[in-house]
Amino acid sequence: MAKKPAVLFVCLGNICRSPLAEAAFRRAVAKLDLDVEIDSAGTGRWHVGEPPDGRAQAIARRHGVEIGPYRARQVTREDFHRFTHIVALDHVNLAVLEGMRPPDAAVHLSLLLDHVEGRRGQAVADPYYGGDEGFAMTWADVTSGAEALARRLATRE
Ligand code: 4NP
Repeated sequence: MAKKPAVLFVCLGNICRSPLAEAAFRRAVAKLDLDVEIDSAGTGRWHVGEPPDGRAQAIARRHGVEIGPYRARQVTREDFHRFTHIVALDHVNLAVLEGMRPPDAAVHLSLLLDHVEGRRGQAVADPYYGGDEGFAMTWADVTSGAEALARRLATRE
């Protein structure tokens, strides 16, 4: 039997994009009744231990998801062995992950929007320095990516 899928979403701070991707993916996976381990992390360490940004919590809540209990953590080398898929939110974080990847790790690295038809190679823009409308766009992007990735995992099982 194939290894149970385990998916880690990675952005810079783990307080805006990757917690939203984690939340959207948890919902997509539950809808499809899939058994997947799910987490998120940041390549940076500035926000370790903090809850998601208040604007991220607000947009998630508006869509019926509570992410207040999530806490930021930094990506570790062990993550490359623990997860089958590590999904970066943008190119900078993908490049950091490619640099960290141990040579013997079988993990599949991708950008979240690679999984969405017509959006291969695109980044989920960093909403941190913008306004609330940026978070609405982040939610739309991570939902598209999460639903597409969940469908792909469902059809491979
Ligand atoms: P995230 O957003 O990577 O989507 O969590 C950011 C959070 C914090 C910072 C930058 C982006 N920061 O510079 O502290």
